Amino acid sequence: MKKNFFMILTAIACTAILQQSCTNSPTNEPPKEPEKKEMSHGELVERGKYLVTSIGCDDCHTPKIFGPQGMSLDTTKLLSGHPENSPMPPIDKNALKPGNWLLFAGDLTATVGPWGISFSANLTPDTATGIGAWTEDVFAKTLRTGKHLGQDGGRMILPPMPWQAFRNLKDDDMKAIFAYLKALPPIHNKVPAPVSPPDVEKMK
Ligand code: HEC
Repeated sequence: MKKNFFMILTAIACTAILQQSCTNSPTNEPPKEPEKKEMSHGELVERGKYLVTSIGCDDCHTPKIFGPQGMSLDTTKLLSGHPENSPMPPIDKNALKPGNWLLFAGDLTATVGPWGISFSANLTPDTATGIGAWTEDVFAKTLRTGKHLGQDGGRMILPPMPWQAFRNLKDDDMKAIFAYLKALPPIHNKVPAPVSPPDVEKMK
């Protein structure tokens, strides 16, 4: 009886060893990671849409409409930046001094602070007024370095554009965001250049 029991145990152990040696590669290399699949263009755009809409680029870059439910995105102008020629309310110049309150335009596309006035850029692929002529490299460099148009000697991008946060995006995510922006309907909207503090002081 005891002998039988040991025979069964030995058989089980042998089978286990045999299975091991069959599944292990002969060189004992660690199992290979499954190869990372390149995303198709469509998948890249979908991922970019997910990132842009969850990170909140629309907060500053999309004009808003106001209805009974409060403020909502103007989906006909998605990510087209501060609307050109929109009327500017009188500015409280105290906002230019550090430590005071900042002023946001009603639709959050323009901000007054110690840096003057900044206007959210047009992120649609319009060639003349948006990012139509941008390459993926320029886009990534802009968000990683905080330099206007990704240019080495260029001016710093002004607040409240949170590039210090977006610089941490992984390469693939940066690519996906750019692919989504490039797939948007192009909107012609020439966003004004920023206004320096001395020029704001001169404004009525
Ligand atoms: C809190 C407001 C805010 C949010 C959120 C925001 N931006 Fe901006 N963005 C701005 C402002 C303001 C400017 C203009 C800054 C300037 O003129 O220097 C700007 C400029 C830019 C520019 C142009 C930079 C240049 O070369 O001058 C790009 C590209 C950009 N934003 C991309 C994005 C993307 C992509 C997102 C979301 C992942 C995003 N922004 C979210 C406010 C914002």
